[in-house]
Amino acid sequence: MIKEFLAQKQKQGLLRFLRHADYKKSGDIFIEGKKYIDFSSNDYLGLSQHAKLIQAAQDAAEKFGTSSSSSRLLSGSFKLHNELEEKTAEFKKKEAALVFNSGYQANIGIISALCTKQDAIFCDKMSHASIIDGTLLSGSKFFRFSHNDLGHLESLLEKYRNKFNNALIITESIFSMDGDKAPLKGIVALKEKYNCRMLVDEAHATGIFGKNGSGLTEEEGLSEKIEFIMGTFSKAMGSFGAYLACSKDIKDYLINTCRSFIYSTALPAPVIAADIAAIDVIKKEPHRRKTLLDNADYFRNTLKKNQISVKGASQIIPLITGDCVKTLEISKMLMEAGYWALPIRPPTVPKNESRIRFSLAYNHAKKDLKRLLDDIIKIRCSYPGMGDR
Ligand SMILES: Cc1ncc(COP(=O)(O)O)c(C=O)c1O
Repeated sequence: MIKEFLAQKQKQGLLRFLRHADYKKSGDIFIEGKKYIDFSSNDYLGLSQHAKLIQAAQDAAEKFGTSSSSSRLLSGSFKLHNELEEKTAEFKKKEAALVFNSGYQANIGIISALCTKQDAIFCDKMSHASIIDGTLLSGSKFFRFSHNDLGHLESLLEKYRNKFNNALIITESIFSMDGDKAPLKGIVALKEKYNCRMLVDEAHATGIFGKNGSGLTEEEGLSEKIEFIMGTFSKAMGSFGAYLACSKDIKDYLINTCRSFIYSTALPAPVIAADIAAIDVIKKEPHRRKTLLDNADYFRNTLKKNQISVKGASQIIPLITGDCVKTLEISKMLMEAGYWALPIRPPTVPKNESRIRFSLAYNHAKKDLKRLLDDIIKIRCSYPGMGDR
């Protein structure tokens, strides 16, 4: 049965396998002795190689060792965790923050701790798997609204909201696969009109948007209006782990109820120290996010000028290629030309919306972006439908 499963996935162009990097350096990835420019990483600002993060992690390893060796509620909670939570709360302009071991663990734990079988969750259809899994785990009634469609969300709220005790609306602020922005102000207006709470996942916005780089909720002045602002340290922050910025009461409630927080060994001190250093670097080095977003505009606009339509309004630029087999072929051509640009296929994205998701990074040189754009335009001659959506 397992062999048949694998054979069928292979035939459909859906078989996944691991590729092992020799090492990574300044936006490049080295695999089996060959160098590729890495367009599949979320290290958007290049912070995973920043001297201040590395130094902070080394110092913490010397002082605390390599593991926290215990859950936060036993002996795994260090002053460093507390410092990170205070700095995160201040960064996100919320009363408190709680650190989680990963974005996946954060979403499944937070949603299932906050919502019950008597509640309803209204969630954007393009939400990350961790949001879907958290919702399913909660047992709440689950409504999915069409991607970024305020009209559809309102029609669901109108019909169903008053049948439930509590309701939670969930969206990402920058969508991980489409790179577009959620209409946060519109969603906030609806959550107020229909007496709901709101959770925003800023995994791909943290470090990039807003005056201080804390995210799109900061940029749009919505930090106070949104009850639960979640994000990760694993993407633009160049480190690992995740956070929820919220009220002090919610933090205390989660410390007592959130199973993915309680029943897991705390993140080790070197990771926490790198997270703290990342917040500092984000605030002090705004040129990184400015250059990144300028490059993303240049990349998207050049494709558009060449009649290749791309979605998004961020550093994530998806080129929709359609079916899986075609997407694999295009990815292979890009690899042969020296770009690490992997295919994204169902179930991560809807059927027939397979894509190459270009993740831009601060340390991509303009000349490399130009060469990649020329190559995409050339490849398009062999795949006329590419980028039509
Ligand atoms: C929107 C979103 N939320 C959560 C996560 C999970 O974060 P982590 O990789 O830290 O588990 C991801 C990761 O890809 C994501 O894209």
